[in-house]
Amino acid sequence: MKTPKYRIPASFDLPTRQWPSRTLITSPDWCSVDLRDGNQALPNPMDPDQKMEYFELLCNIGFKQIEVGFPSASQDDFDFFRHLIENDHIPDDVFIMGLTQCRPHLIERTFEAFKGVRKGIIHAYIASSDLHMKQVFGMDRAGTLKAAVDATRQISELADTMPDSDIRYEFSPEEFTDTDQSFCLELCQAVFDAWGKATPEKPMILNLPATVERRPPNHYADMIEWFCANFPHRDCVKISLHSHNDQGMAVAATELSLMAGADRVEGTLFGHGERTGNVDLVTVANNLFSRGIDTGLDFSNLGRVAETVERLTGMPIYYRQPYAGEYAFTAFSGSHQDAINKGMHRLDKAGELFGMQWKVPYLHVDPADLGRSFERMIRINSQSGKGGIAWVLEQEYGIEVPKAMQPELREEVQAYSDSVGREISSEEVRAIFQEKFISPAGPFALIGYWPRPDDNDPTFIHGEVKMNINGEEKTARADGNGPISAFVNAVSGLVGIDFSVDNYHEQAVGKGADAQALAYVPLKRAGNGVIFGVGSDSNIDQAAVRAIVAGLNRIAGKK
Ligand code: KIV
Ligand code: ZN
Repeated sequence: MKTPKYRIPASFDLPTRQWPSRTLITSPDWCSVDLRDGNQALPNPMDPDQKMEYFELLCNIGFKQIEVGFPSASQDDFDFFRHLIENDHIPDDVFIMGLTQCRPHLIERTFEAFKGVRKGIIHAYIASSDLHMKQVFGMDRAGTLKAAVDATRQISELADTMPDSDIRYEFSPEEFTDTDQSFCLELCQAVFDAWGKATPEKPMILNLPATVERRPPNHYADMIEWFCANFPHRDCVKISLHSHNDQGMAVAATELSLMAGADRVEGTLFGHGERTGNVDLVTVANNLFSRGIDTGLDFSNLGRVAETVERLTGMPIYYRQPYAGEYAFTAFSGSHQDAINKGMHRLDKAGELFGMQWKVPYLHVDPADLGRSFERMIRINSQSGKGGIAWVLEQEYGIEVPKAMQPELREEVQAYSDSVGREISSEEVRAIFQEKFISPAGPFALIGYWPRPDDNDPTFIHGEVKMNINGEEKTARADGNGPISAFVNAVSGLVGIDFSVDNYHEQAVGKGADAQALAYVPLKRAGNGVIFGVGSDSNIDQAAVRAIVAGLNRIAGKK
């Protein structure tokens, strides 16, 4: 039979697996590899100033372990280590980490870079997969094991020469997920023995990378669970994950493998890294945060983090990137907008109904916790629903469009959006509201209305209405049971439109001397339904009167 080009990766035989029924309840340790795995994969790697700014960003977020480079492979990385250490830029509680291959002269050079460090992690790696050993290095398993053990002994001895520094050790069998697992266990155990310094207080880090994502996430979890169960000094090691995202499942692989017993996660902000990148720590950490787990990482100003990373890496963040993407908290469709609107208004009931403060349709996390604002949650296009449009006006301008008027408003917004053929901004929605409902073009303009109470019965109103109708000034007497009904009686005759006004809605916008009344008045015409006009004035009766004139112009415009 012809050898197939691809085949299903053999699943891991682990009938005792426990991880599928576990729940994550605590945070792992985090290690940022942005300045090493991330930086090495940038089209334009960062210069020293940019690295410094990035390092400070990582410290401010709360990372306590930061891989800052590969000092034996690059002079720039070496210099950056020296700069950090000599200028005392490393917070007391932060470990800096440096990568090295298992080769004597590179290890020596790495230690030179670490001289004087307060807290450092030497990170040695060796490819342990048959693929790498056979096809790349022409090595066998025994040779690989010997190189790793020799290197580790050298590292352990050099660490002894730095008694004033807290030097820890991380070992990575590169391509762990493509490595024979029994060999990997033997290799890691031999390395652990060669280091000889691991204790529960100062554990060694065994970083088990999915260097290339060749398998489904459950395989990685099985391998981690098996490794944790079989490694003899489990309390003296931190099992670390390092996933790449070749099949787009690095976040899932990381979460499942944490359930399988891993203690630590390496990755980068927004998933920078070789090829499709490393696992995105912003997503993993905020997934845990959204389930109530304290991660120790602060993404409360994610916008600033995203802006800084975009600027320093020169790579934009995708619109739909979880948490940080421009559209991460944006609903376009009407039904989603409406549901969010309702959920936000009923948030005070969430605790009683669901036992949690935040439970809103279509939003699994409160955007405000990430420094994102609600304003950007709803964008308007021709698909937008009435609830979403009303929500935008209310949230951004304090305008409370009554429910009965919302369909009319949506019609106007849709017509505009169709005419421009694109998403429209909240400013444009506000302008539509002004142009179509407060000051619509039309034949009628109010010159003045002066109501006064009857001398004998002050509930009865007399007055005079002066209007410009199609350029001609007209006047009419106004009599009625209140200022608005007197106005309606006068104006119906003047404009030749038979209409009535019932329950209208008023609200105040703004405060103090600048407060304006907004009146939303439905004009009812027999057999012709209702048309709304909106008036704005410092006086509530005048606002209602203006709303009526606006509504009459809207009626005239529809004829
Ligand atoms: O992806 C990988 O395996 C690595 C190692 C050096 C840990 O980056
Ligand atoms: Zn990597």
